[in-house]
Formats: sequence, C-alpha cells, structure tokens
Amino acid sequence: MITISNIHKAFGDNEVLKGIDLNIKKGSVVVILGPSGSGKTTFLRCLNSLETPEQGGIAFDDSSLNIDFAAKPTKKQLRALQKKSGMVFQSYNLFPHKTALENLMLGPMVAQGMSKQQAQAKALALLEKVGLSDKTDLYPFQLSGGQQQRVGIARALAIEPELLLFDEPTSALDPELVHEVLKTMQQLASEGWTMVVVTHEINFARNVADVVMLMEDGHVVEVGPPEQLFERSEHPRTQAFLQRIKA
Ligand SMILES: Nc1ncnc2c1ncn2[C@@H]1O[C@H](COP(=O)(O)OP(=O)(O)OP(=O)(O)O)[C@@H](O)[C@H]1O
Ligand SMILES: [Mg+2]
Repeated sequence: MITISNIHKAFGDNEVLKGIDLNIKKGSVVVILGPSGSGKTTFLRCLNSLETPEQGGIAFDDSSLNIDFAAKPTKKQLRALQKKSGMVFQSYNLFPHKTALENLMLGPMVAQGMSKQQAQAKALALLEKVGLSDKTDLYPFQLSGGQQQRVGIARALAIEPELLLFDEPTSALDPELVHEVLKTMQQLASEGWTMVVVTHEINFARNVADVVMLMEDGHVVEVGPPEQLFERSEHPRTQAFLQRIKA
C-alpha cells in the first residue's frame, strides 16, 4: 500500500491541490478523472518529485520511504521518491536525438549505474515487450505517435518503478493509434503493475481501473470502484461531471 495524505500544493497564491488523500494498493490501477485545471497533472508530478508539495505525506508500507512534506524532505528522500515512480507523459518526452534503444538505456545507466551492456539487453527486452523489436534503431521522428508512446512506456518501465504514472497518455494520439497504447497499458495492469492513470478514456476506467478518483478544483470529489462512480454515484458533482463528458 502507498498512503498519500493531505497533499497541498500552491503556485504563488494559487492553491492547486487542497488536501488530496489517496491509498494505492499494490498491483492496483487508479484512474484519475476531472475537468481541465483541477490539478490532475500537478498531483502526478508531486508523486514523481517533479513538484514538491508544501504539506502532506507519502508513505510506502514496506517502510522504505516515508516523507512528510511539511517537514522539508531531504534531497535524498525526493530522489528516492523519483526512483520509485516512472512517468509516462502526454507528449511522450523522448530524447529526439536518441534512438528508441538509447532512450531506454539512459535511465538504468544514469539512475541505477547499470553497465552499457546490461542496459542494452534490458532495453531490447522492453522494446520487445511493447511490440517494437523492429524499431530499436529508429529516432522518435521516425516513429508514429503510438509507437513513440510505447517507447515512453517502456522507458518508464526500464527503471523498474514501484509505481507507474500516466498523464493523459493517449490524448495526443490520432484516434486509430489510441488502441495500441491502451492495450499495452491493459497488459501492464494484468501483469500486476501498480498504476495511476490520468485519462479521459472512460472505457479504460470502467474496464481496467480498480479505483476511480474524481478531482475538481484541487479536491477529491469521490473515490471508489468504477461501478460506484459510473453506475451508483449519488454525488451531484460526479453526476454533473459524467453528464458533461457524455454530452
Ligand atoms: N508550474 C506551474 N506554475 C504555475 N501554475 C501552475 C503550474 N502548473 C500548473 N499550474 C496551475 O495549476 C492548476 C492545475 O493545473 P494542472 O495542470 O494540474 O491541471 P489538470 O487537471 O492536469 O488540467 P488538464 O486536464 O488541462 O491537463 C492550473 O490553474 C494551472 O495553471
Ligand atoms: Mg493535465
């Protein structure tokens, strides 16, 4: 279990996260829904040490890490958090001057001190896993969006994180390429990876999520299994959100 409690994050006087709580069970998939500007990306970035909250905590129940943000976490703690999570970005964020293979080798070599040979073997295995064995030496611009995003996913896996974070991984893709990325994510879910996914793909949320969290204006509106939110929610704000995305 990863216990996230009372996360507060402000940019200047704009308080973007106003006390977010979330428990993530090992091997579960959490889907985060919410309107634009509700703080979804900021929340994911806090889980990956790309932003540092002013308040709140994150605790791994194996006691490997327990951060209290109000108590000024050390650089070592923030680096440890970063190593525990792998992020997949909406715009892929691959290194443009590196091949697919090189994009995957960098993390293990730099962050984990892996030898070039080992990193290469690992990168090849991961590219095979996401169905890109024949693209290893191509540069990002030579790949389709769906292929680039699958490289992005393989890159996140390369450091063997405890937690995989996805920020609208299919939003930049042409509709016909969405499926291959969702399929890869569904495969990871069935392999038992722990995942937090910000997405507008309601069918993915219905079929793959164990828990759905609806955020609005820096707050959690409702959190529960997909059947609760999609079929049985009595929360007026959940109902209003679902009406809006159906429209
Ligand atoms: N680095 C930053 N500096 C200042 N303000 C920021 C920064 N990042 C985010 N914000 C503000 O935080 C608020 C929430 O942004 P965030 O990107 O987390 O929302 P979101 O739910 O991911 O939205 P979307 O669905 O459009 O991606 C917005 O008002 C945004 O302008
Ligand atoms: Mg966002």
